[in-house]
Amino acid sequence: MLVTGGAGFIGANFVHYTLRHRPEYRICVLDKLTYAGDQASLRQVADRIRFVRGDVGDAATVDALVAESDVVVHFAAESHVDNSLHDPEPFLHSNVVGTYRLLEAVRRHGARLHHISTDEVYGDLPLTGTDRFTEETAYAPSSPYSATKAASDMLVRAWCRSYGVAATISNCANNYGPYQHVEKFIPRQITNVLTGGRARLYGTGEHVREWTHVDDHNAAVHLILSRGRVGETYLIGSGVERSNREIVETLLELLGLPRDDFDHVADRPGHDLRYSNDSTKIRTQLGWQPRYGDLRDGLAATVEWFHDNEWWWKAAKQATEERYRLLGR
Ligand code: NAD
Ligand code: DAU
Repeated sequence: MLVTGGAGFIGANFVHYTLRHRPEYRICVLDKLTYAGDQASLRQVADRIRFVRGDVGDAATVDALVAESDVVVHFAAESHVDNSLHDPEPFLHSNVVGTYRLLEAVRRHGARLHHISTDEVYGDLPLTGTDRFTEETAYAPSSPYSATKAASDMLVRAWCRSYGVAATISNCANNYGPYQHVEKFIPRQITNVLTGGRARLYGTGEHVREWTHVDDHNAAVHLILSRGRVGETYLIGSGVERSNREIVETLLELLGLPRDDFDHVADRPGHDLRYSNDSTKIRTQLGWQPRYGDLRDGLAATVEWFHDNEWWWKAAKQATEERYRLLGR
C-alpha cells in the first residue's frame, strides 16, 4: 500500500490505524516533508514501514512507487485555507499536478486508488437551517485550497470514466485528534494556552464545522477500500456540529480557564459559514458508524495529547505564530 502524505496529520494517523487493524499490509509512505509533514509522527512505527521523501508532483518518483503498489491512498496535499489565501501556488502544484501524476501512474500500472478529499469542495451552507451536503451537491469551492481540491476530484472522476481507473473518492468533514498541525483551529487554541497565550477566534466565532475524530475518518477509508464501489464518492461526517465559539469555550473549560478567556481577531476572507455532510450513503451501504460519539470526551483526549506531547509540536509553534502575525490573526 502506498500512502501519500503519510507524515501529515490524517496520513500518519492512517498509517498507525492500518498497522493496528490490518497488520498484513506492507506500507510505503511518500511524503515531501513540507512544513506540515513530520517524520516524528511515524517514529513508533518507523521500523515497520518504508519511508520515501519525495514529491507527488514528480512523475518519475511516483511512477516507480506506484509500479510496486496494489493500493494507493492519496492524502498528500497543501491543506490549510489561510495559507492558500496568502500564496495559492503550492496548492496548485501539490493538489492538482500531484493528483494528476498519481492518476497517470495508476492508469499505467493498474493500482487501486482512494483519493482523500474534503467537504469544502461544496462551498458552504447557511449558518442556520438543516441543509446538508450530499454526494449530488454541486461543487462551489470558495478558497484557493478548496478550488484545488475540487479540481483534483474532477480529475479523479474523469480518469475513472475515460480511462477506467479503479478509484474512489471520500469527502470528509473537519478532523481532530493527535498529530494535527498547530496551525489548525483546535491545536492552535490548545497550544496558545499551553504556551501562555490566549485563544483566538476569527470574526464573530459563529461559523459552524462538523467535527469527526481522525480514527473515525480512517476507519471509513478502510471500509471504502474493502467494500466501496469503484467510481463512487462517499461523504464522511460524524453529524456533530459546533460553532467555533462553542469549541473554544469547551477547550478553555477543559484547560481550567474561564469560558470567555479568548480574543476576537480579524476574520478570514471569504470565510465559509457552515459545513455539514449527509453521510447516509456510507452508513447504510458500507455500515460505517463513528465511534467517537462524545465530542467533549474527544476534545479532552486531544487536550491531554497536546499537553503530554510538547516535544512533537513545540518547534512548529513559533514559526506558525510568526505566520499568523503577518496575516493579522
Ligand atoms: P496535513 O497538512 O497535515 O498533511 C499533508 C501532508 O502532505 C504533509 O505530510 C506534507 O508534507 C505532505 N505533502 C504536501 N505536499 C506534498 C507533495 N507535493 N508531495 C508529497 N507530499 C506532500 O494535511 P491533513 O490535514 O492531514 O490532510 C490530509 C488530506 O485530507 C488532504 O488531502 C486534505 O485535503 C484532506 N482533508 C483534511 C481534513 C482535515 O480536517 N484536516 C478534512 C477532510 C479532508
Ligand atoms: O472541512 C474539512 C477541512 O477542514 C479540510 O479540508 C481542511 O484541510 C482543514 O484545514 C479544515 O479546514 P477549516 O478551514 O475548516 O479548518 P481550520 O482549522 O483552519 O479552521 C476551522 C475553523 O476555525 C474555521 O471556521 C476558521 C476558524 N479559526 C481557525 C483558526 C486557525 C479560528 O476561529 N481561529 C483560528 O485561530
